[in-house]
Amino acid sequence: MQVSSMQQYINNKVFRAISEVAGQINRPTYAIGGFVRDIFLGRVSTDIDIVVQGSGIELAQLVAKKLGVKRVNVFKRFGTAQLKVGDWEVEFVGARKESYSSDSRKPIVEDGTIEDDQRRRDFTMNALGISLHPHTLGQLIDPFNGVDDISNRIIRTPLDPNQTFSDDPLRMMRAIRFATQLRFDIEANTYRALSVNKERLKIISVERITDELNKIILSKKPSIGFMLLEETGLLEQFFPEFVALKGVDKVKKHNHKDNFYHTLQVLDNVAEKSDDLWLRWAAVLHDIAKPVTKKYVKGQGWTFHAHEFVGKKMVPGIFRKLKLPLNEKMRYVQKLVQLHLRPIILSSDDVTDSAVRRLLFDAGDHIDDLMILCEADITSKNDAKVKRYLANFKLVRKKLIEIEEKDAVRNFQPPISGEIIMQVFGIAPSKPVGSIKDSIKEAILDGKISNDFHEAYDLMLQLGNAQGLKPQKSKEFILNQANLQVSSDSSNKE
Ligand code: CTP
Repeated sequence: MQVSSMQQYINNKVFRAISEVAGQINRPTYAIGGFVRDIFLGRVSTDIDIVVQGSGIELAQLVAKKLGVKRVNVFKRFGTAQLKVGDWEVEFVGARKESYSSDSRKPIVEDGTIEDDQRRRDFTMNALGISLHPHTLGQLIDPFNGVDDISNRIIRTPLDPNQTFSDDPLRMMRAIRFATQLRFDIEANTYRALSVNKERLKIISVERITDELNKIILSKKPSIGFMLLEETGLLEQFFPEFVALKGVDKVKKHNHKDNFYHTLQVLDNVAEKSDDLWLRWAAVLHDIAKPVTKKYVKGQGWTFHAHEFVGKKMVPGIFRKLKLPLNEKMRYVQKLVQLHLRPIILSSDDVTDSAVRRLLFDAGDHIDDLMILCEADITSKNDAKVKRYLANFKLVRKKLIEIEEKDAVRNFQPPISGEIIMQVFGIAPSKPVGSIKDSIKEAILDGKISNDFHEAYDLMLQLGNAQGLKPQKSKEFILNQANLQVSSDSSNKE
């Protein structure tokens, strides 16, 4: 891309206003960072960073006035100011020269030139500037050949990488995140410095690390990032449980698959089907308990008994440590980890209605996500096996639809509540109430009765009778009292 052609990217009212003000106060001013990089990547960014040799806050205020923007967010402590213009977020900062102490991310900041400012940035591709001063409008400032690196698809630090990473260790995560998102290579020296400086990651807050990890997980092929994180030793710093999946043990001829690479394959498979961060997290964690449940059993080989239950229990600890939310998102991940073997077990047996009904009941609204995870979990190299599993899954999916249409157990509400049981038999809350309710649920899930009020009512009477309970109220009374308009063939489907 020619330098002269940069003008077209800054030919709009916001850049024009910045340029006019930069001319009036006669300060070198540049668009810099991700916005400029994204022009060369053919992407449109709405986050604009402006660097001025002078006060960023003063420039922001003058530009806001010119554009008629009322609100300027000023961060005095950082010497930055931010404006919102339409869906653009424009951040202004004075050019800085920074030096860092070894035990903190907080730099000692002095005023500097645009070159000083570019030197302190993370990667050559992020250190590009476009001049906005009227005298040099549109001129590209590329002191580290960032444009070449972009066209060669290379991530490289502007300075010695040990310095750039030591100054701000979060950049190590960013290097791998960009490599994953953009499918760029990390230049050899820069790559080596990741291992050398891996322990510096400890001074970075977990939230920021997890933020980058989530961006890797949300990439098109997340395995790229996880492999780089593992190879460089960065993953071990914040997610050792995942690293523990790596490796193969062998006893005589028996070995097991490497669960690290298997999990990454599952994650990539899920990523092809869904953009949902939490479904992708379920893929990351589905086998997380394999290392702790691994056992060699003579005559049987390697077993990972109950790893789905142990894995479910490990999820909160991992979420807490990584500062992921401890809410329904976490419970969703737990549920999928716990249930991830169910459809596959189901499809290896005869697919009975009752097993499908139970799966629907347990998975509820997450059944479709669970099926995506389970299909993604088939990573066997044996084609015949894969074909057989996938064919069986097709059958399971078909049955899931049929049974849900018939029995509506996906969001199962028992047709007979504990309240009704207590009223009919004139008893207080007690064990028999729970056991009758439970037996009715089991009978429905087993397909012994339909998910229907009348059938459930008859079963309740039988179960009560077996426990020596006599009905004190008629069915009509219960129906009237609950004001239920139940026609003779209705069920709680409606
Ligand atoms: N930057 C840096 N070191 C960091 C973070 C940011 O040097 N740890 C610089 C880079 O020049 C970067 C710019 O600040 O381009 C803006 O950072 P940010 O908005 O966080 O990222 P972008 O590069 O714009 O990319 P993305 O939006 O994908 O995070």
